[in-house]
Amino acid sequence: MSKGNDKDKVDPNRRAIVVGGAAAVAGIAAGIVIGGNVFPKLEKETVTVKQPVVEKETVTVPSKVSVTQAYQKVKVANYSSLQVNSPVSVTYMGYPAYVVRTGKASIGGVGPNGDVVGYSALCAHMGGPVGYDPNTQCGVCPYHYSQYDLTRDGIPVIGHPNQYLAMLVLEYDSSTGDIYALGFNRLVYGIYNNVGQATSSSSSS
Ligand code: FES
Repeated sequence: MSKGNDKDKVDPNRRAIVVGGAAAVAGIAAGIVIGGNVFPKLEKETVTVKQPVVEKETVTVPSKVSVTQAYQKVKVANYSSLQVNSPVSVTYMGYPAYVVRTGKASIGGVGPNGDVVGYSALCAHMGGPVGYDPNTQCGVCPYHYSQYDLTRDGIPVIGHPNQYLAMLVLEYDSSTGDIYALGFNRLVYGIYNNVGQATSSSSSS
């Protein structure tokens, strides 16, 4: 046999290996393609979250706020015009009050005899209108008949109040006889800050 003829001869085992290898490659390629279909790529999902609408609130701030920072010194009477046991109504920084000559030296009293006192006209019990009894020199409330001794610092002597009546702090000018209110010594009924809740309104009758 010639050498060239030997070359043309194909070993059947080698052919099988070649054919088998080709088939394997084809199989892998097919697997990739098929696999690609069996396990499709996950698509990214876009989720849109709606943001809540926040309403803007418009707050109007007054450009100028009037705040009373301190007690005021206010003339409430002149000694010469005061008669014993005849109270004079006054409004001090918006609060109803009265000034009276009790006729005898009184705690907190001013004037030549120390008998001029001033008190809130609002009962310490429930804010009733406190009047004046000339027979006892007591402040008297008609709502529940409580009484305060105005010669003794406004101490409650009859009835429901568990605190003194708020007294006006007074100042006497001996050269003119004028009497001034400088503030209260206690909280006025229903008020938590005498100065902060006051107004600039003051008057006397
Ligand atoms: S409100 Fe004055 S006694 Fe009650």
